[in-house]
Amino acid sequence: MKNKPFLLKPSWEKTFGKKPRTYCRSDTRIIANPGVVIKVLRQKKILVFLAYFLLVTLAMLNLANFKWAKESQPCSLQMTENVKFQNRPYFHLINHKAPQVRNRTLVYVLTTWRSGSSFFGELFNQNPGVFFLYEPMWHIWQKLYPGDALSLQGAERDMLSALYRCDFSVFQLYNTQVGKNVATRDVFGAPFNKVICSYPLCPFYRKDVVGMVDENVCKNCPPQSLEALEEQCQKYDTIVIKGVRILDINVLAPLLADSSLNLKVVHLVRDPRALANSRIRSKHGLIRENLQVIRSRNPNLRHLPMVDANYKASKRDGSDYHSIAAMEVICEHMSNTLKTVLSGPSWLKGKYIMVRYEDLVENPLGTLKHVYQFVNLTVSRDMEAFIMNMTTGHNNPVEPFEVSSRNGTMAANAWRTVLGINQIRQVEAYCSHAMSVLGYVHVRMLWEARNLSKSLLTLPRI
Ligand SMILES: *[C@@H]1O[C@H](CO)[C@@H](O)[C@H](O)[C@H]1NC(C)=O
Ligand SMILES: *[C@@H]1O[C@H](CO)[C@@H](O)[C@H](O)[C@H]1NC(C)=O
Ligand SMILES: *[C@@H]1O[C@H](CO)[C@@H](O)[C@H](O)[C@H]1NC(C)=O
Ligand SMILES: *[C@@H]1O[C@H](CO)[C@@H](O)[C@H](O)[C@H]1NC(C)=O
Ligand SMILES: *[C@@H]1O[C@H](CO)[C@@H](O)[C@H](O)[C@H]1NC(C)=O
Repeated sequence: MKNKPFLLKPSWEKTFGKKPRTYCRSDTRIIANPGVVIKVLRQKKILVFLAYFLLVTLAMLNLANFKWAKESQPCSLQMTENVKFQNRPYFHLINHKAPQVRNRTLVYVLTTWRSGSSFFGELFNQNPGVFFLYEPMWHIWQKLYPGDALSLQGAERDMLSALYRCDFSVFQLYNTQVGKNVATRDVFGAPFNKVICSYPLCPFYRKDVVGMVDENVCKNCPPQSLEALEEQCQKYDTIVIKGVRILDINVLAPLLADSSLNLKVVHLVRDPRALANSRIRSKHGLIRENLQVIRSRNPNLRHLPMVDANYKASKRDGSDYHSIAAMEVICEHMSNTLKTVLSGPSWLKGKYIMVRYEDLVENPLGTLKHVYQFVNLTVSRDMEAFIMNMTTGHNNPVEPFEVSSRNGTMAANAWRTVLGINQIRQVEAYCSHAMSVLGYVHVRMLWEARNLSKSLLTLPRI
Protein backbone atom coordinates (compact mmCIF):
# COMPACT_ATOMS: atom_id res chain seq x y z
CA MET A 1 0.00 0.00 0.00
CA LYS A 2 2.63 2.48 1.09
CA ASN A 3 5.30 1.84 -1.44
CA LYS A 4 3.41 2.05 -4.65
CA PRO A 5 5.74 2.47 -7.55
CA PHE A 6 6.18 6.17 -7.90
CA LEU A 7 4.78 7.06 -11.27
CA LEU A 8 5.39 10.38 -12.81
CA LYS A 9 2.46 12.51 -13.63
CA PRO A 10 -0.03 12.48 -15.22
CA SER A 11 -0.83 8.97 -14.04
CA TRP A 12 -0.94 9.74 -10.30
CA GLU A 13 -4.65 10.05 -9.97
CA LYS A 14 -5.35 6.94 -11.97
CA THR A 15 -2.88 4.89 -9.94
CA PHE A 16 -4.37 5.73 -6.60
CA GLY A 17 -7.79 4.61 -7.73
CA LYS A 18 -6.56 1.22 -8.85
CA LYS A 19 -4.36 0.33 -5.89
CA PRO A 20 -1.79 -1.76 -7.77
CA ARG A 21 0.00 -4.37 -5.70
CA THR A 22 3.68 -4.91 -6.00
CA TYR A 23 5.60 -7.68 -4.39
CA CYS A 24 9.23 -8.20 -3.61
CA ARG A 25 10.25 -10.95 -5.99
CA SER A 26 12.80 -13.31 -4.65
CA ASP A 27 15.28 -14.17 -7.31
CA THR A 28 14.73 -17.80 -8.25
CA ARG A 29 17.67 -19.16 -10.23
CA ILE A 30 18.48 -22.70 -11.19
CA ILE A 31 22.17 -22.88 -11.89
CA ALA A 32 22.55 -26.27 -13.53
CA ASN A 33 21.81 -26.46 -17.20
CA PRO A 34 19.84 -29.71 -17.70
CA GLY A 35 21.13 -30.19 -21.28
CA VAL A 36 24.76 -30.29 -20.22
CA VAL A 37 24.00 -32.46 -17.22
CA ILE A 38 22.30 -35.10 -19.37
CA LYS A 39 25.16 -35.17 -21.89
CA VAL A 40 27.80 -35.78 -19.28
CA LEU A 41 25.81 -38.37 -17.37
CA ARG A 42 24.23 -40.16 -20.33
CA GLN A 43 25.50 -43.60 -19.32
CA LYS A 44 24.79 -43.22 -15.65
CA LYS A 45 21.05 -43.25 -15.81
CA ILE A 46 20.54 -43.69 -12.14
CA LEU A 47 22.62 -40.63 -11.45
CA VAL A 48 20.62 -38.74 -14.00
CA PHE A 49 17.45 -39.77 -12.32
CA LEU A 50 18.84 -38.76 -8.97
CA ALA A 51 20.00 -35.46 -10.33
CA TYR A 52 16.59 -34.73 -11.77
CA PHE A 53 14.93 -35.74 -8.57
CA LEU A 54 17.19 -33.37 -6.67
CA LEU A 55 16.53 -30.63 -9.16
CA VAL A 56 12.78 -31.03 -8.95
CA THR A 57 12.89 -31.10 -5.15
CA LEU A 58 15.00 -27.97 -5.07
CA ALA A 59 12.72 -26.24 -7.50
CA MET A 60 9.69 -27.11 -5.40
CA LEU A 61 11.36 -25.89 -2.25
CA ASN A 62 12.24 -22.71 -4.01
CA LEU A 63 8.71 -22.31 -5.22
CA ALA A 64 7.36 -22.84 -1.73
CA ASN A 65 9.79 -20.32 -0.41
CA PHE A 66 8.83 -17.87 -3.11
CA LYS A 67 5.17 -18.32 -2.34
CA TRP A 68 5.79 -17.75 1.34
CA ALA A 69 7.78 -14.65 0.61
CA LYS A 70 5.07 -13.41 -1.68
CA GLU A 71 2.42 -13.71 0.99
CA SER A 72 4.28 -12.34 3.92
CA GLN A 73 6.53 -9.71 2.44
CA PRO A 74 4.61 -7.20 0.42
CA CYS A 75 7.10 -4.66 -0.79
CA SER A 76 5.89 -2.17 1.72
CA LEU A 77 7.23 0.42 4.07
CA GLN A 78 4.65 -0.85 6.52
CA MET A 79 7.22 -3.41 7.67
CA THR A 80 9.38 -0.64 9.02
CA GLU A 81 10.35 -2.89 11.90
CA ASN A 82 12.38 -5.15 9.62
CA VAL A 83 13.68 -2.41 7.42
CA LYS A 84 14.79 -0.34 10.36
CA PHE A 85 16.55 -3.20 12.00
CA GLN A 86 18.51 -4.06 8.90
CA ASN A 87 19.40 -0.54 7.97
CA ARG A 88 19.87 1.26 11.20
CA PRO A 89 23.30 -0.07 12.18
CA TYR A 90 24.79 1.41 9.01
CA PHE A 91 23.97 4.83 10.28
CA HIS A 92 23.77 4.88 14.00
CA LEU A 93 22.57 2.83 16.89
CA ILE A 94 19.30 3.71 18.46
CA ASN A 95 17.24 2.20 21.17
CA HIS A 96 14.36 0.60 19.35
CA LYS A 97 11.16 1.83 20.83
CA ALA A 98 7.79 0.29 20.27
CA PRO A 99 6.04 1.79 17.28
CA GLN A 100 4.02 4.88 18.01
CA VAL A 101 0.78 4.09 19.79
CA ARG A 102 0.03 7.62 20.93
CA ASN A 103 -2.63 9.51 19.10
CA ARG A 104 -0.52 12.24 17.62
CA THR A 105 -1.72 14.88 15.25
CA LEU A 106 0.64 15.16 12.28
CA VAL A 107 0.51 18.20 10.07
CA TYR A 108 2.14 18.96 6.76
CA VAL A 109 2.17 22.59 5.65
CA LEU A 110 2.06 22.24 1.88
CA THR A 111 3.28 25.40 0.23
CA THR A 112 5.75 26.84 -2.24
CA TRP A 113 8.64 29.26 -2.09
CA ARG A 114 7.90 32.84 -1.03
CA SER A 115 4.41 32.14 0.29
CA GLY A 116 5.08 33.66 3.67
CA SER A 117 5.69 30.17 4.94
CA SER A 118 8.56 31.07 7.27
CA PHE A 119 6.15 33.31 9.11
CA PHE A 120 3.34 30.77 8.96
CA GLY A 121 5.66 28.05 10.23
CA GLU A 122 6.54 30.25 13.17
CA LEU A 123 2.94 29.93 14.37
CA PHE A 124 3.71 26.26 14.98
CA ASN A 125 7.38 26.60 15.93
CA GLN A 126 6.35 28.92 18.76
CA ASN A 127 3.55 26.76 20.11
CA PRO A 128 4.82 25.00 23.25
CA GLY A 129 2.91 21.84 22.34
CA VAL A 130 4.25 21.48 18.82
CA PHE A 131 7.37 19.80 17.49
CA PHE A 132 8.14 21.73 14.34
CA LEU A 133 10.50 20.95 11.47
CA TYR A 134 11.31 23.57 8.89
CA GLU A 135 12.05 22.34 5.38
CA PRO A 136 13.71 18.98 6.18
CA MET A 137 13.57 17.94 2.52
CA TRP A 138 16.17 20.57 1.79
CA HIS A 139 18.71 17.88 2.69
CA ILE A 140 17.53 15.71 -0.20
CA TRP A 141 17.78 18.55 -2.69
CA GLN A 142 21.29 19.37 -1.52
CA LYS A 143 22.53 15.81 -1.58
CA LEU A 144 21.00 14.99 -4.94
CA TYR A 145 21.65 18.33 -6.62
CA PRO A 146 20.88 18.96 -9.42
CA GLY A 147 18.13 16.36 -9.44
CA ASP A 148 14.96 17.65 -10.98
CA ALA A 149 12.20 18.50 -8.54
CA LEU A 150 9.84 15.84 -9.82
CA SER A 151 12.20 12.87 -9.48
CA LEU A 152 12.85 13.70 -5.85
CA GLN A 153 9.20 13.51 -4.80
CA GLY A 154 9.28 9.82 -3.87
CA ALA A 155 12.35 10.23 -1.67
CA GLU A 156 10.70 13.20 -0.02
CA ARG A 157 7.60 11.21 0.80
CA ASP A 158 9.67 8.44 2.36
CA MET A 159 11.57 10.99 4.40
CA LEU A 160 8.32 12.47 5.69
CA SER A 161 7.06 9.04 6.62
CA ALA A 162 10.15 8.48 8.79
CA LEU A 163 10.14 11.95 10.33
CA TYR A 164 6.50 11.71 11.38
CA ARG A 165 7.51 8.60 13.33
CA CYS A 166 10.30 10.60 15.00
CA ASP A 167 12.91 8.56 13.13
CA PHE A 168 15.60 11.11 12.30
CA SER A 169 18.27 8.67 11.15
CA VAL A 170 17.03 9.53 7.67
CA PHE A 171 19.01 12.78 7.89
CA GLN A 172 22.17 10.68 7.97
CA LEU A 173 21.22 9.25 4.55
CA TYR A 174 21.47 12.67 2.99
CA ASN A 175 24.51 13.76 4.91
CA THR A 176 26.73 15.91 2.71
CA GLN A 177 29.67 15.92 5.11
CA VAL A 178 31.49 12.67 4.53
CA GLY A 179 32.69 10.82 7.62
CA LYS A 180 30.79 13.01 10.04
CA ASN A 181 27.64 12.18 11.93
CA VAL A 182 24.75 14.56 11.53
CA ALA A 183 24.02 16.44 14.74
CA THR A 184 21.11 18.67 15.72
CA ARG A 185 22.87 21.80 14.50
CA ASP A 186 23.21 20.32 10.99
CA VAL A 187 19.47 19.94 10.57
CA PHE A 188 18.22 22.58 8.16
CA GLY A 189 16.77 25.55 10.02
CA ALA A 190 18.31 24.50 13.34
CA PRO A 191 19.17 28.08 14.45
CA PHE A 192 15.46 28.95 14.30
CA ASN A 193 14.12 25.69 15.68
CA LYS A 194 12.56 26.27 19.05
CA VAL A 195 13.05 22.68 20.25
CA ILE A 196 16.68 22.46 19.14
CA CYS A 197 17.42 25.87 20.68
CA SER A 198 15.60 25.23 23.97
CA TYR A 199 16.09 23.30 27.15
CA PRO A 200 16.98 20.41 27.47
CA LEU A 201 18.88 20.31 24.15
CA CYS A 202 20.22 23.83 24.58
CA PRO A 203 20.41 26.09 27.65
CA PHE A 204 19.43 29.39 25.99
CA TYR A 205 15.63 29.27 25.56
CA ARG A 206 12.55 27.53 26.87
CA LYS A 207 10.04 25.92 24.55
CA ASP A 208 7.15 26.88 26.83
CA VAL A 209 7.91 30.61 26.52
CA VAL A 210 6.50 32.09 23.30
CA GLY A 211 8.93 34.37 21.46
CA MET A 212 11.36 34.38 18.55
CA VAL A 213 14.74 32.84 19.13
CA ASP A 214 17.86 34.70 18.04
CA GLU A 215 19.73 32.83 15.38
CA ASN A 216 23.07 34.16 16.61
CA VAL A 217 22.40 32.87 20.09
CA CYS A 218 21.21 29.48 18.86
CA LYS A 219 24.35 29.01 16.79
CA ASN A 220 26.17 28.54 20.09
CA CYS A 221 24.00 25.65 21.19
CA PRO A 222 26.06 22.53 21.87
CA PRO A 223 25.61 19.94 19.09
CA GLN A 224 23.40 17.08 20.22
CA SER A 225 22.87 13.67 18.73
CA LEU A 226 19.88 13.00 16.54
CA GLU A 227 18.79 10.41 19.10
CA ALA A 228 18.41 13.20 21.64
CA LEU A 229 16.21 15.04 19.16
CA GLU A 230 14.20 11.87 18.52
CA GLU A 231 13.65 11.61 22.25
CA GLN A 232 12.28 15.18 22.35
CA CYS A 233 10.11 14.51 19.32
CA GLN A 234 8.50 11.56 21.12
CA LYS A 235 7.24 13.89 23.85
CA TYR A 236 5.01 16.00 21.62
CA ASP A 237 1.39 15.39 20.67
CA THR A 238 1.61 17.45 17.50
CA ILE A 239 4.31 17.26 14.84
CA VAL A 240 4.27 19.88 12.12
CA ILE A 241 6.51 19.81 9.07
CA LYS A 242 6.60 22.69 6.65
CA GLY A 243 7.90 22.19 3.15
CA VAL A 244 8.02 23.82 -0.26
CA ARG A 245 9.46 20.79 -2.01
CA ILE A 246 6.44 18.51 -2.23
CA LEU A 247 4.93 19.94 -5.38
CA ASP A 248 1.62 18.13 -5.50
CA ILE A 249 -0.69 16.79 -2.79
CA ASN A 250 -1.11 13.55 -4.73
CA VAL A 251 2.42 12.64 -3.70
CA LEU A 252 1.18 12.52 -0.10
CA ALA A 253 -1.84 10.35 -0.84
CA PRO A 254 -0.34 7.13 0.59
CA LEU A 255 0.54 8.90 3.84
CA LEU A 256 -2.88 10.54 4.09
CA ALA A 257 -4.59 7.23 3.44
CA ASP A 258 -2.49 5.45 6.09
CA SER A 259 -4.78 5.07 9.09
CA SER A 260 -1.81 4.59 11.44
CA LEU A 261 -0.80 8.20 10.73
CA ASN A 262 -3.22 10.95 11.67
CA LEU A 263 -1.89 13.29 8.99
CA LYS A 264 -3.51 16.56 7.95
CA VAL A 265 -2.51 19.01 5.26
CA VAL A 266 -2.61 22.77 5.59
CA HIS A 267 -2.21 24.23 2.11
CA LEU A 268 -0.75 27.70 2.30
CA VAL A 269 -1.18 29.60 -0.97
CA ARG A 270 -0.40 33.07 -2.17
CA ASP A 271 -1.12 35.16 -5.23
CA PRO A 272 1.20 33.72 -7.95
CA ARG A 273 2.07 37.23 -9.10
CA ALA A 274 3.34 37.99 -5.61
CA LEU A 275 5.25 34.69 -5.62
CA ALA A 276 6.89 35.62 -8.92
CA ASN A 277 7.83 39.07 -7.68
CA SER A 278 9.27 37.65 -4.52
CA ARG A 279 11.23 35.02 -6.47
CA ILE A 280 12.71 37.77 -8.63
CA ARG A 281 13.71 39.81 -5.63
CA SER A 282 15.33 36.84 -3.88
CA LYS A 283 16.78 35.29 -7.03
CA HIS A 284 20.24 34.95 -5.57
CA GLY A 285 18.81 32.79 -2.84
CA LEU A 286 16.83 30.70 -5.29
CA ILE A 287 19.24 30.13 -8.20
CA ARG A 288 19.70 26.43 -7.48
CA GLU A 289 16.03 25.91 -6.71
CA ASN A 290 14.95 27.68 -9.89
CA LEU A 291 17.17 25.31 -11.84
CA GLN A 292 15.82 22.20 -10.12
CA VAL A 293 12.27 23.36 -10.62
CA ILE A 294 12.70 24.32 -14.26
CA ARG A 295 14.45 21.02 -15.01
CA SER A 296 11.27 19.19 -14.08
CA ARG A 297 9.14 20.96 -16.65
CA ASN A 298 6.80 18.46 -18.21
CA PRO A 299 8.21 17.80 -21.70
CA ASN A 300 4.85 16.46 -22.91
CA LEU A 301 3.12 19.68 -22.08
CA ARG A 302 2.72 22.28 -24.78
CA HIS A 303 4.54 25.25 -23.39
CA LEU A 304 2.74 28.52 -23.44
CA PRO A 305 4.45 31.06 -25.65
CA MET A 306 6.10 33.89 -23.82
CA VAL A 307 3.92 36.97 -23.71
CA ASP A 308 6.94 39.05 -24.60
CA ALA A 309 9.08 37.08 -27.07
CA ASN A 310 12.15 39.23 -26.45
CA TYR A 311 12.00 38.79 -22.73
CA LYS A 312 14.67 36.13 -22.33
CA ALA A 313 17.01 37.85 -24.75
CA SER A 314 17.07 41.09 -22.85
CA LYS A 315 20.07 40.73 -20.61
CA ARG A 316 18.81 42.80 -17.76
CA ASP A 317 15.83 40.53 -17.29
CA GLY A 318 17.65 37.22 -17.87
CA SER A 319 17.44 35.99 -14.31
CA ASP A 320 14.00 37.46 -13.81
CA TYR A 321 13.05 35.23 -16.68
CA HIS A 322 14.09 32.09 -14.80
CA SER A 323 12.14 33.16 -11.76
CA ILE A 324 9.04 33.59 -13.86
CA ALA A 325 9.67 30.39 -15.87
CA ALA A 326 9.70 28.44 -12.59
CA MET A 327 6.14 29.65 -12.06
CA GLU A 328 5.00 27.47 -14.94
CA VAL A 329 6.05 24.33 -13.05
CA ILE A 330 4.86 25.58 -9.68
CA CYS A 331 1.44 26.60 -10.96
CA GLU A 332 0.98 23.41 -12.94
CA HIS A 333 1.42 21.39 -9.74
CA MET A 334 -0.63 23.82 -7.68
CA SER A 335 -3.38 23.37 -10.21
CA ASN A 336 -3.10 19.56 -9.98
CA THR A 337 -3.41 19.79 -6.22
CA LEU A 338 -6.50 21.96 -6.49
CA LYS A 339 -8.10 19.63 -9.04
CA THR A 340 -7.58 16.72 -6.66
CA VAL A 341 -9.02 18.67 -3.74
CA LEU A 342 -12.05 19.72 -5.78
CA SER A 343 -12.65 16.12 -6.83
CA GLY A 344 -12.92 15.20 -3.12
CA PRO A 345 -11.14 11.84 -2.87
CA SER A 346 -11.88 9.80 0.27
CA TRP A 347 -8.25 9.90 1.49
CA LEU A 348 -8.48 13.67 1.80
CA LYS A 349 -11.78 13.83 3.63
CA GLY A 350 -11.51 16.14 6.66
CA LYS A 351 -7.73 16.30 6.19
CA TYR A 352 -7.25 19.42 4.13
CA ILE A 353 -7.67 23.13 4.55
CA MET A 354 -6.49 25.91 2.30
CA VAL A 355 -5.16 29.16 3.75
CA ARG A 356 -4.47 32.25 1.67
CA TYR A 357 -1.50 34.34 2.71
CA GLU A 358 -3.56 37.45 1.95
CA ASP A 359 -6.24 36.38 4.44
CA LEU A 360 -3.57 35.59 7.00
CA VAL A 361 -2.12 39.10 6.91
CA GLU A 362 -5.55 40.72 6.65
CA ASN A 363 -6.99 38.79 9.60
CA PRO A 364 -4.10 37.09 11.41
CA LEU A 365 -5.92 36.10 14.56
CA GLY A 366 -9.02 34.75 12.82
CA THR A 367 -6.86 32.71 10.47
CA LEU A 368 -4.73 31.39 13.31
CA LYS A 369 -7.84 30.24 15.17
CA HIS A 370 -9.22 28.58 12.07
CA VAL A 371 -5.98 26.70 11.42
CA TYR A 372 -5.47 25.74 15.05
CA GLN A 373 -8.98 24.39 15.31
CA PHE A 374 -8.37 22.23 12.25
CA VAL A 375 -5.26 20.69 13.81
CA ASN A 376 -6.79 20.51 17.30
CA LEU A 377 -4.68 23.18 19.00
CA THR A 378 -5.92 26.03 21.16
CA VAL A 379 -4.77 29.63 20.76
CA SER A 380 -3.15 30.79 23.99
CA ARG A 381 -2.94 34.46 24.97
CA ASP A 382 0.78 34.35 24.32
CA MET A 383 0.27 33.08 20.79
CA GLU A 384 -2.39 35.72 20.23
CA ALA A 385 0.01 38.48 21.27
CA PHE A 386 2.77 36.95 19.21
CA ILE A 387 0.85 36.89 15.93
CA MET A 388 -0.42 40.44 16.41
CA ASN A 389 3.09 41.69 16.98
CA MET A 390 4.37 39.83 13.93
CA THR A 391 1.84 41.19 11.47
CA THR A 392 1.32 44.78 12.54
CA GLY A 393 4.89 46.01 12.80
CA HIS A 394 5.88 49.00 10.70
CA ASN A 395 9.21 47.97 9.29
CA ASN A 396 9.48 46.96 5.67
CA PRO A 397 10.68 43.50 4.77
CA VAL A 398 14.40 43.92 4.24
CA GLU A 399 15.98 40.50 4.04
CA PRO A 400 13.89 38.23 1.83
CA PHE A 401 14.18 35.20 4.11
CA GLU A 402 13.91 36.97 7.41
CA VAL A 403 10.93 36.46 9.62
CA SER A 404 10.19 39.67 11.43
CA SER A 405 7.32 41.87 12.33
CA ARG A 406 6.28 43.78 9.26
CA ASN A 407 3.28 45.47 7.75
CA GLY A 408 1.68 42.40 6.23
CA THR A 409 -0.75 44.21 3.95
CA MET A 410 2.09 46.12 2.41
CA ALA A 411 4.02 42.90 1.82
CA ALA A 412 0.98 41.29 0.19
CA ASN A 413 0.63 44.13 -2.31
CA ALA A 414 4.27 44.78 -3.16
CA TRP A 415 4.09 43.03 -6.55
CA ARG A 416 1.42 45.44 -7.77
CA THR A 417 3.77 48.39 -7.74
CA VAL A 418 6.82 46.57 -9.11
CA LEU A 419 5.97 44.01 -11.81
CA GLY A 420 5.64 45.10 -15.45
CA ILE A 421 2.51 44.31 -17.41
CA ASN A 422 4.24 41.60 -19.47
CA GLN A 423 5.52 39.90 -16.36
CA ILE A 424 2.06 40.02 -14.84
CA ARG A 425 0.46 38.63 -18.00
CA GLN A 426 3.04 35.86 -18.22
CA VAL A 427 2.37 34.68 -14.68
CA GLU A 428 -1.37 34.93 -15.23
CA ALA A 429 -1.02 32.78 -18.34
CA TYR A 430 0.87 30.08 -16.41
CA CYS A 431 -1.35 30.23 -13.35
CA SER A 432 -4.77 30.93 -14.79
CA HIS A 433 -6.53 27.85 -13.37
CA ALA A 434 -5.01 28.05 -9.90
CA MET A 435 -5.80 31.75 -9.72
CA SER A 436 -9.43 31.29 -10.61
CA VAL A 437 -9.89 28.50 -8.04
CA LEU A 438 -8.16 30.48 -5.31
CA GLY A 439 -9.94 33.75 -6.01
CA TYR A 440 -7.12 35.88 -7.39
CA VAL A 441 -8.50 38.31 -9.97
CA HIS A 442 -6.68 38.83 -13.28
CA VAL A 443 -5.73 42.35 -14.28
CA ARG A 444 -6.37 43.59 -17.79
CA MET A 445 -4.60 46.92 -17.61
CA LEU A 446 -1.55 48.01 -15.71
CA TRP A 447 -3.48 50.69 -13.84
CA GLU A 448 -5.67 48.00 -12.30
CA ALA A 449 -2.58 46.54 -10.70
CA ARG A 450 -1.18 49.91 -9.69
CA ASN A 451 -4.40 51.22 -8.10
CA LEU A 452 -4.08 49.66 -4.67
CA SER A 453 -7.60 50.59 -3.62
CA LYS A 454 -8.92 48.10 -6.18
CA SER A 455 -9.13 44.69 -4.57
CA LEU A 456 -7.80 41.79 -6.60
CA LEU A 457 -9.21 39.19 -4.23
CA THR A 458 -12.49 37.39 -4.50
CA LEU A 459 -13.95 34.36 -2.75
CA PRO A 460 -12.04 31.14 -3.41
CA ARG A 461 -13.87 28.11 -4.80
CA ILE A 462 -12.42 25.83 -2.11
C1 LIG B 1 -7.10 8.74 17.47
O1 LIG B 1 -8.03 9.82 17.36
C2 LIG B 1 -8.98 9.66 16.34
C3 LIG B 1 -9.83 10.92 16.26
O2 LIG B 1 -10.29 11.28 17.53
C4 LIG B 1 -9.81 8.41 16.59
O3 LIG B 1 -10.73 8.22 15.56
C5 LIG B 1 -8.88 7.21 16.68
O4 LIG B 1 -9.62 6.06 17.03
C6 LIG B 1 -7.80 7.43 17.74
N1 LIG B 1 -6.84 6.35 17.71
C7 LIG B 1 -6.29 5.84 18.80
C8 LIG B 1 -5.32 4.73 18.59
O5 LIG B 1 -6.56 6.26 19.92
C1 LIG C 1 -7.62 17.23 20.78
O1 LIG C 1 -6.74 17.57 21.84
C2 LIG C 1 -7.19 17.18 23.12
C3 LIG C 1 -6.18 17.65 24.13
O2 LIG C 1 -5.76 18.94 23.85
C4 LIG C 1 -7.38 15.67 23.19
O3 LIG C 1 -7.91 15.31 24.43
C5 LIG C 1 -8.33 15.23 22.07
O4 LIG C 1 -8.40 13.83 22.04
C6 LIG C 1 -7.84 15.72 20.74
N1 LIG C 1 -8.82 15.41 19.71
C7 LIG C 1 -8.48 14.82 18.56
C8 LIG C 1 -9.58 14.62 17.61
O5 LIG C 1 -7.33 14.47 18.31
C1 LIG D 1 7.35 42.42 19.15
O1 LIG D 1 8.43 41.89 18.39
C2 LIG D 1 9.65 42.60 18.55
C3 LIG D 1 10.66 42.03 17.56
O2 LIG D 1 10.56 40.67 17.45
C4 LIG D 1 10.11 42.48 19.99
O3 LIG D 1 11.32 43.21 20.17
C5 LIG D 1 9.02 43.05 20.88
O4 LIG D 1 9.37 42.88 22.24
C6 LIG D 1 7.69 42.38 20.62
N1 LIG D 1 6.64 43.05 21.35
C7 LIG D 1 5.71 42.37 22.05
C8 LIG D 1 4.70 43.20 22.73
O5 LIG D 1 5.74 41.16 22.13
C1 LIG E 1 0.19 48.97 6.44
O1 LIG E 1 0.41 49.59 5.19
C2 LIG E 1 -0.80 50.07 4.55
C3 LIG E 1 -0.40 50.61 3.20
O2 LIG E 1 0.77 51.36 3.25
C4 LIG E 1 -1.45 51.14 5.44
O3 LIG E 1 -2.65 51.57 4.83
C5 LIG E 1 -1.75 50.52 6.80
O4 LIG E 1 -2.27 51.49 7.67
C6 LIG E 1 -0.48 49.91 7.40
N1 LIG E 1 -0.84 49.21 8.63
C7 LIG E 1 -0.17 49.37 9.74
C8 LIG E 1 -0.67 48.62 10.91
O5 LIG E 1 0.80 50.09 9.80
C1 LIG F 1 -8.95 53.09 -7.99
O1 LIG F 1 -9.89 52.06 -7.74
C2 LIG F 1 -11.02 52.51 -7.01
C3 LIG F 1 -11.87 51.28 -6.67
O2 LIG F 1 -12.06 50.47 -7.79
C4 LIG F 1 -11.79 53.55 -7.82
O3 LIG F 1 -12.91 54.02 -7.11
C5 LIG F 1 -10.84 54.71 -8.13
O4 LIG F 1 -11.48 55.62 -8.98
C6 LIG F 1 -9.57 54.23 -8.79
N1 LIG F 1 -8.63 55.31 -8.91
C7 LIG F 1 -8.01 55.61 -10.04
C8 LIG F 1 -7.04 56.75 -10.00
O5 LIG F 1 -8.19 54.97 -11.07
